[in-house]
Amino acid sequence: MKLIETGFLYQHTAEEITEKPYQMLRLGPGRAQEIFSLQKIVYEAQDDPQKFVPDPIESFQDVMLVEGKGFSIGVFVEEQLIAVRTVSFPGKGEENLGREIGLTEESELDKVAILEATMVRPDYRGNALQKKMLVHTMKFIREYGCCHVLSTVSPFNYPSLSSVMHAGLYIKNLKLRTGVYGGKLRFLMAKNICREEPMNFSDTITLKNTEIKKQQLLMEKGYLGFKLEEIPEEPDQFMVYYGCPEVKI
Ligand SMILES: CC(C)(COP(=O)(O)OP(=O)(O)OC[C@H]1O[C@@H](n2cnc3c(N)ncnc32)[C@H](O)[C@@H]1OP(=O)(O)O)[C@@H](O)C(=O)NCCC(=O)NCCS
Repeated sequence: MKLIETGFLYQHTAEEITEKPYQMLRLGPGRAQEIFSLQKIVYEAQDDPQKFVPDPIESFQDVMLVEGKGFSIGVFVEEQLIAVRTVSFPGKGEENLGREIGLTEESELDKVAILEATMVRPDYRGNALQKKMLVHTMKFIREYGCCHVLSTVSPFNYPSLSSVMHAGLYIKNLKLRTGVYGGKLRFLMAKNICREEPMNFSDTITLKNTEIKKQQLLMEKGYLGFKLEEIPEEPDQFMVYYGCPEVKI
């Protein structure tokens, strides 16, 4: 396992807040059971089953920890895995989400990286660990020669959306997804990290994240979601800013 960074973070328990040293590492093969155990804790602690769909252990064993198929970053405190980010490279496979952003050439599909799962143990949330892991994740994705970074995120999962948009991904579509998602609504998020010029938007429209049909209609017209804003008096909802991009993603 390769060391990525070290630092301090806060652990929040019912009794106290404690500062702890952490290590962020690239996970080597053989760590699937640890990721799976963390996933169990995170899944059982979630407030809304819409937000997070657990992955089978095989996806960690056979994809996200296998060189060439994906990679994973983990955060350890006192030698326990407390946060993880997994990434896959779908290549020419049927499931490659790149087709949804108009990629057809095999050479372009090979440049797709999918941000898969991210999990932070509940007592370590609020340390911006997802954002910290994403900074390194994007760097590694670049080093693999990928250009198209894609992810699916629940429209009700503010912490996850906020982190993924902080890394520069835009909201591209909103669909009911079948398969492992079991018919749940998901935004498709995307960014072309090989494009140098900034994305500019005109004709900005803001919608609540719960306005599903209106968001879908806007994106069918080519709008992209580019910014979120919390609504202080409505903690379960937030605003999404949509705009017409000057260029395609
Ligand atoms: C998503 C997740 C990884 C983010 O954890 P984190 O890195 O500790 O989150 P952060 O500290 O970066 O917080 C992200 C944002 O959400 C806010 N936030 C954090 N926890 C929150 C909560 N429980 N409710 C509402 N907002 C919350 C933060 O204020 C921050 O807002 P900002 O970006 O506007 O400043 C974590 O919540 C988690 O493990 N969730 C369950 C698994 C999951 O849903 N994964 C995503 C799908 S794979």
